[in-house]
Amino acid sequence: MPTFSSMMGDQTILPIVQANTPEQGVEIAKAMQAANLKAVEVVLRTEQALATITAIKEQLPDLKVGAGTVLDEGMIDAVIKAGADFIVTPASTPKLLKALAESNIPALPGVASGSEVLMAREHGFSELKFFPAEQKGGAPFIKSISSVFAGISFCPTGGIHAGNKDDYLNLPNVFAVGGTWMAKPEWVANGEWQKITDACIEANQ
Ligand code: 3PG
Repeated sequence: MPTFSSMMGDQTILPIVQANTPEQGVEIAKAMQAANLKAVEVVLRTEQALATITAIKEQLPDLKVGAGTVLDEGMIDAVIKAGADFIVTPASTPKLLKALAESNIPALPGVASGSEVLMAREHGFSELKFFPAEQKGGAPFIKSISSVFAGISFCPTGGIHAGNKDDYLNLPNVFAVGGTWMAKPEWVANGEWQKITDACIEANQ
């Protein structure tokens, strides 16, 4: 199985797709792909999220489509069936980590503390989501744990935007940052797809 970061290639941002309908999700994903992005994350926070993953994979087969906000084993099975290429979780439990490790799909388990980093490491994960990043100590926290958790790298999300993303990306133990700022709900509601493309281009520089 490829590592999470190798699947991302040179992409250093992971934009979140939150869609009310599969059609809307496809438009958001198209706008992100137009910014030359190779991977996006569809969060399971809307009723149509699974159908959105399937629709994006059907219409944009070259795009890697991840499923985010995966909370338990049942959701792992459901997103794999829907066609997801990778999984992101907001937090971790031993049960969830075991299921992710056995699922054979690239996964980015969520952590917010040193103990959770160790728990994820014990299950074989060395690339982790740090969430909610800004509220849990931000870039200074990640910097301060770099020497103790050598070999672990992070994709922080939560409160990240164009103005602070480089504070994270400048750290050697951060391989990408994620978030919703590249597809603001009002742009999605108004069908302002070009704004999404422009925000993704700016963010991925
Ligand atoms: C996530 O699921 O990672 C968060 O919703 C991202 O947080 P943001 O909305 O502050 O970018």
